[in-house]
Amino acid sequence: MSAFRNAIVFGASTGIGAELVRNLAKSGVKVAAIARRKALLDQLAAEFPDSVLPVVLDVTASSDASQVLSDICERLGGCDLYIYCAGIMPRVGKDEYPTTSDLESIDVNFTSAVRWLNAVALRCQSLKSGTIVGISSVAGDRGRRGGPVYAATKAGFTVYLEALRNRLAVQGVRVVTIKPGPVSTPMTEGLSKLPLIITAEKAASLILDHARKGTAVAYVPGIWKVLMAVIRSVPQAIFQRLDI
Ligand SMILES: NC(=O)c1ccc[n+]([C@@H]2O[C@H](COP(=O)([O-])OP(=O)(O)OC[C@H]3O[C@@H](n4cnc5c(N)ncnc54)[C@H](OP(=O)(O)O)[C@@H]3O)[C@@H](O)[C@H]2O)c1
Repeated sequence: MSAFRNAIVFGASTGIGAELVRNLAKSGVKVAAIARRKALLDQLAAEFPDSVLPVVLDVTASSDASQVLSDICERLGGCDLYIYCAGIMPRVGKDEYPTTSDLESIDVNFTSAVRWLNAVALRCQSLKSGTIVGISSVAGDRGRRGGPVYAATKAGFTVYLEALRNRLAVQGVRVVTIKPGPVSTPMTEGLSKLPLIITAEKAASLILDHARKGTAVAYVPGIWKVLMAVIRSVPQAIFQRLDI
């Protein structure tokens, strides 16, 4: 079990990311909280003035990620936990193929995850230490009707994280893939009939347990491991008739 000293959370202003920051700060970890909405980050920093460093940043902005990362780590006094939690899930109607918002999802959920975690991987590789956590989703396990591109970004992110883990294990770096089921956050606000939904606080606590243990792939909560095994085993001919 690792006890972390310093952490960076990408996508920290609301929902799961904000609760990850709160949980870490409460346990004495110094955290850089990254997102675009400054007022929300400032509120978090006001809750934990000695522990939370607000960093206003759009993860999709093209910048020298390695340099920005290195500056943030220097301000923290080092970093041993990096969590990519930034994500968007625009609503998609059943007959819509909204290319503009689809490309935005790909940018935040996948392209920018690669931009920042490649920089993190290089840093961890040279330090021969660190824990990298990616917040993927159960949605990436199957191509449901509901959100083709959101699901595809999470499937891609899951495979990217697996490859990072396989590369970095020899350097002593741990890569943890988290696949949450439904969590009550601004992302899921207004969506009806979400099964087994949990609070963001509970999700953050479970995620950090897995980060400390260095679990390779974790469904959150664990019941989703069983449910997704069943869902993955449904034959295509039946799956395409299900309205999920
Ligand atoms: N809620 C669920 O049921 C659920 C289930 C499975 C997986 N997930 C995943 O969990 C992660 C967190 O989601 P959530 O439910 O907590 O949603 P949320 O409350 O909407 O949080 C999303 C976070 O991502 C940040 N973000 C979005 N675009 C960004 C950008 N361009 N630059 C920097 N930060 C950006 C947002 O901050 P700003 O808008 O302030 O920039 C916010 O802090 C996502 O990756 C999501 O796909 C969620």
